[in-house]
This record gives sequence, structure tokens and C-alpha cells, in this order.
Amino acid sequence: MLAPPFSPAHHIFVCTNRRDASSGLGPGCGETGERVYNALKREVSRRGLVVSTWITATRCLGVCPQVGCVVARYPDGGLLSEITPEDVAYILSPGAGRAKHEP
Ligand code: FES
Repeated sequence: MLAPPFSPAHHIFVCTNRRDASSGLGPGCGETGERVYNALKREVSRRGLVVSTWITATRCLGVCPQVGCVVARYPDGGLLSEITPEDVAYILSPGAGRAKHEP
């Protein structure tokens, strides 16, 4: 096993999983996940953070909201659900890490 020569300060995984409309698990994060992924990539590039903050599209993260998508932010953010492109600034903020709707 080899350790990589470097790793990002933050690694954000965006669920872009799509399910068939008949799935009992719901539609998945697909369309919104792809929009969030693209918005995060644009914002990270705009801020000059491409070396320190990696954005990766992924499959189901096990939460499967009925609206929005799920994002996992490591090492300090955990899972964030019902995410939309309007949440990009929040996801990249130092305070991100609690559920969007947590009191
Ligand atoms: S489909 Fe996105 S978390 Fe399951």
C-alpha cells in the first residue's frame, strides 16, 4: 500500500445517483446532484481552491432524500442532505457540518 503524495484539506462527495421512477427508494439525487456537483466545481475554481478542495461525484450515500441531493464533506462535515445548488456557499463554509435543517 502506498500513501498518496498529497491529499486535499477538504474532499466533498456529491451523490449523483439516479434511480428508475418506479423505485420505492425514490428518484435518487441524480439531476440535483449533477447541478450541485457542477456548481461546486465552478465555485471551487472561482475561489482558487482546486488543490485544497476536491469535488467528486459519487453514487448513493445511503440517505436518499425525496428532494435535493446528499453531500459528504470530509474530514469535518459529515453528511448534508436536501442540498440544492443554492447551498454551495454553505457547503464550502467553515461552519458546514451539521444537517441543513438542524435546529
Ligand atoms: S440516491 Fe443519493 S443518497 Fe441515495
